[in-house]
Amino acid sequence: MGERPCWLPLLLLLALLRCMGLEAQGEFRGRCGQDGAMWDPGAVQVQGRSPSRPHSESQEENPESGPMNTLLLSRPCGRRAVRPLIVGGVEASRGRWPWQALVRVPSGEKCGGSLLSRRWVLSAAHCFRRTPRASKWVVQLGELTLHSSFWNLRAYRNRYRVKDIIVNPRAEGKLHDIALLRLASSVTYSKYVQPICVLSSTFMFLHRSDCWVTGWGAIHENMVPLPPPYRLREAQVTILNNSRCRDLFKLPFQRSFISFDMICAGAENGSADSCYGDSGGPLVCDLEGLWYQIGIVSWGVGCGRPTRPGVYTNVSWHFGWLWTLMSHSAHRLDASLLPLFLSTLWALQFLELAESSWPM
Ligand code: ARG
Repeated sequence: MGERPCWLPLLLLLALLRCMGLEAQGEFRGRCGQDGAMWDPGAVQVQGRSPSRPHSESQEENPESGPMNTLLLSRPCGRRAVRPLIVGGVEASRGRWPWQALVRVPSGEKCGGSLLSRRWVLSAAHCFRRTPRASKWVVQLGELTLHSSFWNLRAYRNRYRVKDIIVNPRAEGKLHDIALLRLASSVTYSKYVQPICVLSSTFMFLHRSDCWVTGWGAIHENMVPLPPPYRLREAQVTILNNSRCRDLFKLPFQRSFISFDMICAGAENGSADSCYGDSGGPLVCDLEGLWYQIGIVSWGVGCGRPTRPGVYTNVSWHFGWLWTLMSHSAHRLDASLLPLFLSTLWALQFLELAESSWPM
């Protein structure tokens, strides 16, 4: 006894700074939050046969390894805790697509989106052309219905304000149709709210016929809207390779070209497709128990027409852009932590005072 705990303020400060650092990174690496409670990041076994990392020194700053020598944008991701058009789809059940986001201007436009991490939602660039101001947009997570009732506190809790809309600088017309939304506060994960995985390459999903697109869009190309109770719909689609897709879109659609950052998916007979209002939503496939986002709903010729598959932004083609944005922001001190920081400083000062008045 009698020893002055002069290391205590220092220790407190160090602990706080460490937690702030991790919280800021948490969106990227998934640590200083609640992930551990539900998903132990260490336990996420992505079949990383010989992990490949980019040429950087710091492991902390690199993407994780994903399946088949690809890189993974962030972890944890792609887990679905609930087992169980959209044109030709069926109603989804809650928790089946826990990364699905509804991105909307209250009583205005709406698009789909997908949760990538606690702070980031992926969507399509064209969704934000008319209303580019971030403060107008709200992201709803963990809800099946398009119109949550006023009394639905759960929906209210899972609603997030958008701090920034980062549209791909090269987005133009149908090209590079991708945008990242930075949320104003950190998302709380649950059984019904989980992030999706993004890989640096998705060639292994080509020709897979068991991939899914989800959304609250029209159920027919003549704009038949979703009927009550306005539930999220899912449709099973096949991923096509680009040369096949280009062939399909040849005459008389010469202008509907398929660029290298697009990927097509649908059903040969047109029985399943995304449609108007599904834009920005995710096209996903699973692999060895985890779910990966392959595309972002972007455009089509009508909806659900035979030999006219839906066209999606190829997410992995933009992996570098996403990774740069998400990792860069992970190192910025989060402004929402400022009150915590200031109150700790205040507490430290108080300790300091108490300490100086202790008898020697
Ligand atoms: N551009 C539409 C939207 O804004 C998506 C159209 C998708 N069309 C299709 N046939 N898959 O919602």
